[in-house]
Amino acid sequence: MTDGTVSFGDHRYKRMSGSVGPDVVDIRKLYADTGMFTYDPGFTSTASCQSALTYIDGDEGVLLHRGYTIGELAEQSNFMEVSYLLLNGELPSAAELNRFTTTITRHTMVNEQLAQFFRGFRRDAHPMAIMCGVVGALSAFYHDSTDIHDPAQRVIASHRLIAKMPTIAAMAYKYSVGQPFLYPDNSLSYTGNFLRMTFGVPAEPYVVDPIIERAMDRIFILHADHEQNASTSTVRLAGSSGANPFACIAAGIACLWGPAHGGANEAALNMLREIGHPERIPEFIARAKDKNDPFRLMGFGHRVYKNYDPRATVMQKTVREVFAAMKVSDPVFDVAIQLEELALKDDYFAEKKLFPNVDFYSGVILSAIGFPTSMFTALFALARTVGWVAQWNEMITDPDQKIGRPRQLYTGPTARPYVALDQR
Ligand code: CMC
Repeated sequence: MTDGTVSFGDHRYKRMSGSVGPDVVDIRKLYADTGMFTYDPGFTSTASCQSALTYIDGDEGVLLHRGYTIGELAEQSNFMEVSYLLLNGELPSAAELNRFTTTITRHTMVNEQLAQFFRGFRRDAHPMAIMCGVVGALSAFYHDSTDIHDPAQRVIASHRLIAKMPTIAAMAYKYSVGQPFLYPDNSLSYTGNFLRMTFGVPAEPYVVDPIIERAMDRIFILHADHEQNASTSTVRLAGSSGANPFACIAAGIACLWGPAHGGANEAALNMLREIGHPERIPEFIARAKDKNDPFRLMGFGHRVYKNYDPRATVMQKTVREVFAAMKVSDPVFDVAIQLEELALKDDYFAEKKLFPNVDFYSGVILSAIGFPTSMFTALFALARTVGWVAQWNEMITDPDQKIGRPRQLYTGPTARPYVALDQR
């Protein structure tokens, strides 16, 4: 959609409006017109693509997937339905959902040889290191779904990635604790199956707890997609060169691992445990505010949300529900609640509009379910795979799509003669 123009010097540029949210200025001709690039490290003012998947209003704390609020989806939907919605644009009918769930279920097994690939990793390898390697290796196993120009192959690759991610994440966990891998059980739900492959053992039956299953499914929904974040942009950039989908998702996993992104859930729980007791909270708040201390409150702040992250609201509620249903508690949750309260009253956090994000409470609940902290980001990757895949598919079919190739402001030496080694 276009709506007028914006002038820059003697030139005018098309102003484009989306369905909601800020307008953008189409500067594609800027360099040709003016000989200048724009400078925007971190893409703070740059829209890299058009997308109809996810909308975030960071000031109001709103997150919509295909127009539906994250709160409603988390309460009323399930991860398979949200996956269908992200991939196809509409909520499925009962028959469509059944067909989609059956298709995903039928792709949950991994090539048997992949199990040997795991054995190349040290037992103490971080699950994210394993995920990067194994997911990238899928392209060596599924040659019949790597042609990105064939829509049918793109669909199969998408289904394979969504279906196999729980199996691979569970295998990464099993490998780290020295237990045998469990094959998927197709009689279970997507989430129930993942819980069984992770916590079950071949020696005895595993009964899926419906409370944990529902909580886990909700956690997956909360992580399913999040607009053009760092890992999604990485997937799109990798995909823009025509790389195969398995390689692109492996690139997304690598990016997600960082503590400023998906790695924050692990870092947040470690921080809460380090604080340990409410009395120590002021000390950590003071450190977070100290310009000379690199420490940040993990699970706090967001590039887009300048209000409460709506995913954190659902996450906090889910922790309360699960603790009440399981009749358990965790002092770390009390530390988290009090830390949030104190930080939100503090001028530093108010002025900078720093609020809890999705990662602030997720570690508390994942730990209660039984996951070690090292698995937290792997679970984020599992759930985000559907978002990555949906964004990758959207990019491939976008007529404006080009290889991603940012420019730079060069500050190095200008041309100079080479100096031979014996003359330096
Ligand atoms: N604790 C203390 N100060 C902070 C924090 C924090 N968690 N986050 C930002 N600030 C300060 C920062 O020091 C800076 O201050 P100043 O303007 O005086 O230099 C200001 O707030 C703006 O920070 P920024 O780093 O320029 O903002 P950004 O948009 O580039 O970074 C962020 C966003 C999420 C990387 C950052 O808030 C952060 O590091 N948070 C902690 C890590 C975290 O929880 N990450 C998960 C993000 S949500 C899940 C996901 O998307 O993966």
